[in-house]
Amino acid sequence: MRGALIGCGFFAQNHLNAWRDMRAEGIELVAVCDIDPVKAKAAADTFGVPRHYTDPQTLFESEQLDFVDIATRMETHHDLVCLAVRHGVRTIVQKPFASDWQQCVSMVETARAARVPLAVHENFRFQAPMQAVREVLASGAIGAPTWGRFAFRTGFDVYKTQPYFHQDKKLAILDVGIHVLDLARVFLGEVRHLSCETQQRNPRNVGEDTATMLLRHTSGAVSLVECTYEARQIPDSFPQTLVTIEGETGSIKVHEDFRMVVTSGNEVSERSIGSPLLPWTQAPWHVAQESVLLTQRAIIAAWRAGREAETSGADNLNTYALVDAAYAAAESGRAVAPEVWRGETIAVASVRR
Ligand SMILES: NC(=O)c1ccc[n+]([C@@H]2O[C@H](COP(=O)([O-])OP(=O)(O)OC[C@H]3O[C@@H](n4cnc5c(N)ncnc54)[C@H](O)[C@@H]3O)[C@@H](O)[C@H]2O)c1
Repeated sequence: MRGALIGCGFFAQNHLNAWRDMRAEGIELVAVCDIDPVKAKAAADTFGVPRHYTDPQTLFESEQLDFVDIATRMETHHDLVCLAVRHGVRTIVQKPFASDWQQCVSMVETARAARVPLAVHENFRFQAPMQAVREVLASGAIGAPTWGRFAFRTGFDVYKTQPYFHQDKKLAILDVGIHVLDLARVFLGEVRHLSCETQQRNPRNVGEDTATMLLRHTSGAVSLVECTYEARQIPDSFPQTLVTIEGETGSIKVHEDFRMVVTSGNEVSERSIGSPLLPWTQAPWHVAQESVLLTQRAIIAAWRAGREAETSGADNLNTYALVDAAYAAAESGRAVAPEVWRGETIAVASVRR
């Protein structure tokens, strides 16, 4: 499959490494594109990509692509996804899906109308430790899950590589809470309502840097979803998500050192669920970096099998709806039911810019 990457910034370096690893699997990145010519050329030179562009329109007009991977920031996603769909090119787009719900729905409906597969690069659920948790749940070892706690708490200097965080009016929930909310969905199912308290603990931040959310799932399960960039703890668990899931007959706990303890009836087992370093990954964020490769592989495998990706645009609407509900709940001080997409068609032109 011939692909192109749009956006060659900070996080795209992981995408570039992962696509290079997938050459052996029949994937070839034939072009990269960034409005910054220096970044476009650097990506092409470093990763041996034959052509580079500064204009996405020119990219689509010049290349025969089987897929495009969009790793720009969310403000650009709607226009770039619609451009790709107009050219009939399968599309992967980074999270957050877009700047608002209407744009997210518009992209899903535009892609559906054109019958072009659309996937969101939602990678936390593909992290090796989270896949291990999913396997235990699926095995039935703890019975039906009834309670969960999913926590991403760090004081790691995330502002160094993403200085725009200080200016983001919506920060912790939209940037990382979105992943943790996605995990809550994956582990405990869809959500009936949620409440949320936000805090802005770092005076340099405009938006919230801490959120504590309480979810009631449609199964009846309850979960706590926490995220902060302002925890002060040694050792720091960045960039791990710590998990506790209690079920009818047991529990799963994922600890800081990638140790998973499973209680199943009267049996207790323990195993390491970290992953080894790849040539391009570095501790402590290797598990997060590797998940980029695992996400890309899962999306491509689904497409090759003629299926929608697990993290399709439509699936991601349910995660995005939780983010919106969390902000609404924090503002109102009340529990809020997430928006549900019912597949109604809205005109692309009606999308607010
Ligand atoms: N999934 C994860 O774990 C994870 C981690 C970090 C960042 N991200 C996401 O990745 C995305 C990118 O974040 P980043 O920190 O790499 O941002 P960045 O600003 O470093 O990179 C974005 C790049 O896109 C380019 N760009 C902007 N508009 C463009 C356009 N119209 N056409 C072509 N190129 C364009 C910019 O010049 C820049 O090089 C964000 O949505 C962010 O939330 C995801």
